Amino acid sequence: MTSRTLRVALPVAAALSLSLLVPTATAQAAPSSPPARASNDKAKVKPLQQLDVPLVFGHRGASGYRPEHTLAAYELAIRMGADYIEPDLVSTKDGRLVARHENEISGTTDVADHPEFAGRRTTKQIDGVAVTGWFTEDFTLAELKTLRATERLPLVRPGNTRYDGRFEVPTFDEVLRLARTWEKKLKRPIGVAPETKHPTYFDSIGLSLEEPLVRTLERHGEDGKKSDVVIQSFEVSNLKELDHLVDNPLVQLTSATGGPFDLRAQGTTYAQIVSAEGLKGVKRYADWVGPDKSQVLPRDAAGATSTPSDLVRDAHRAGVRVVVYTVRDENQFLPTNYRVGTDPNAKGDVFGEATAYLDAGVDGIFGDFPDSIVDARDAWLG
Ligand code: G3P
Ligand code: CA
Repeated sequence: MTSRTLRVALPVAAALSLSLLVPTATAQAAPSSPPARASNDKAKVKPLQQLDVPLVFGHRGASGYRPEHTLAAYELAIRMGADYIEPDLVSTKDGRLVARHENEISGTTDVADHPEFAGRRTTKQIDGVAVTGWFTEDFTLAELKTLRATERLPLVRPGNTRYDGRFEVPTFDEVLRLARTWEKKLKRPIGVAPETKHPTYFDSIGLSLEEPLVRTLERHGEDGKKSDVVIQSFEVSNLKELDHLVDNPLVQLTSATGGPFDLRAQGTTYAQIVSAEGLKGVKRYADWVGPDKSQVLPRDAAGATSTPSDLVRDAHRAGVRVVVYTVRDENQFLPTNYRVGTDPNAKGDVFGEATAYLDAGVDGIFGDFPDSIVDARDAWLG
């Protein structure tokens, strides 16, 4: 038996059957109070991240098919066979964690169509950048729940705009409940990979993300080493803080340029973090590194993928797993050698791109179209 055959495990087997399902839109779950602390019944189950198989992360849900960060997008990702769903987290005015990619919400909700909130449009400095719009921290959860999600990329994904106005902004509680509901239905583990967004900024306005995150995980019984909740951040300090607060696996995200906002005074760069020495440092507080995909397969002058960097090798030597972001089906997001035709919005050879990262040894891939990554992963496993 080859090592690739040995890698085939429960999530893959489940995904093979589920990826054949025809997706359906989900009715929006009504908001409800957080549950009492749940019992963690995962004691005898191997956590997803310990499986020797590359894992599929549904990026912002199945955001290629539904408005991102909605329960419908997460449910579809699960039904398509994603091992993890990925809620980015920001805070409301009353300290509740909700799933949005940014705290500024004009690009992903209908807030601009609500005259009662017109006066809340403002400009703020977020991580050193002036941003104008409406911000989650200026809305209570009850107010945010009156908004509806909209497609972020209507020109690229016009078909998704038919879902505009149908889905609420979900809380982190609701996302966890959705995952556990589908875990029971499908009898396979469903991981959740929350990302803290702008943690230093939220600290600065008295709405720290870490405490409500930990409280939520504890309440759901998701705060152990064996939990299938892995916590991500582009910043470093909050991950180190979380390392003392919870036993959940942590993911140090990195960008192709720049450095963590919280370490700007020291001049720390992401390039330093993904160096061989840097990755040994990551291992002291995190379990994964989540690089931009170009940090694993750098682009040449023509925008095509070239020889793999040392990142995966060095991470594995340091005992750190690697999950790359973000693989998307459309040509404009693909390296030039995987594009098909000249229409930037047409779909290209995403299977080829995903396979190239798998060949480079990654342990996981974030994808907007989780079914494409599942197909590529399962074909790669053989
Ligand atoms: O968390 C992985 C990936 O989602 C990071 O990029 O900007 O989509 O949150 P972003
Ligand atoms: Ca993210």
